[in-house]
Amino acid sequence: MEDRLKDFVAPGSEEEALLHHLDFSRLPLHIAIIMDGNGRWAEKRNLPRIEGHKAGSRAVKEAVESCFRLGIKYLTLYAFSKENWRRPASEVNMLWELLYDYLRKEDKELVKNKIKLKVIGQREGIPPKVCQELARVEALTRDFESMVVLLALNYGGRTEIVEAVKKIIKENKLKPDQIDENTFSQYLYTAGIPDPDLLIRTSGELRVSNFLLWQIAYAEIWITPDYWPDFSRRHLLQALIDYQKRERRFGAVRHPSAQSLP
Ligand code: FPP
Repeated sequence: MEDRLKDFVAPGSEEEALLHHLDFSRLPLHIAIIMDGNGRWAEKRNLPRIEGHKAGSRAVKEAVESCFRLGIKYLTLYAFSKENWRRPASEVNMLWELLYDYLRKEDKELVKNKIKLKVIGQREGIPPKVCQELARVEALTRDFESMVVLLALNYGGRTEIVEAVKKIIKENKLKPDQIDENTFSQYLYTAGIPDPDLLIRTSGELRVSNFLLWQIAYAEIWITPDYWPDFSRRHLLQALIDYQKRERRFGAVRHPSAQSLP
């Protein structure tokens, strides 16, 4: 662990000061990120939107590395929603190309760090060459356990829930009273993966955008006004420190004594 943090922050930097405030015994097990603002990042610089996505792709690489180095076990990235098909075909195609390039280049890094890649979402509709690459990298990293990166692709939270219901009905194995929250979770794309503790969203929008609707029931939400391509170690550390200041009550009371308050 110590090794992983070598050179993570520059001496005397703001990040180094933030790192000192982090309690490594209380890190979130699972972080989910809505990566938003690539287009606006590019527009602000008078660049084509695709440049924003390219910069966003570099931020993905950095976020995966940072989470790995900090010891985060699960990271879920919202990379392509079902709604994203409504964008111009040229932008959609470039997004798949970027993902393809990412997989071709980053597979070695995933193997080196023993990181498992898992896709959640619907494969149908994803260009075949990208599907092949996803299957290749998933197979290559299948047995790794140091960290799991979940890529949400062609993903919609409501679709995921509807698909789970359909699976249960089709299988016809469960009686209604055998279906509870735990059994239901096992029919979601994220079966076997703990729910996110922390949901991060960039670009300041205050919505969940059909992302992990079931799984974020009790997640702490952290939002930055900064655009995804600018998301850095500083943001991640800040999000983690803020998360550790929150009191997660899961619907219960603050202290047992609080129960006697009027
Ligand atoms: C939101 O920005 C981002 C996306 C729709 C896609 C996320 C894709 C990447 C970060 C790049 C490739 C991904 C990987 C995994 C390598 P936006 O276009 O909605 O920004 P806007 O709201 O400012 O228009």
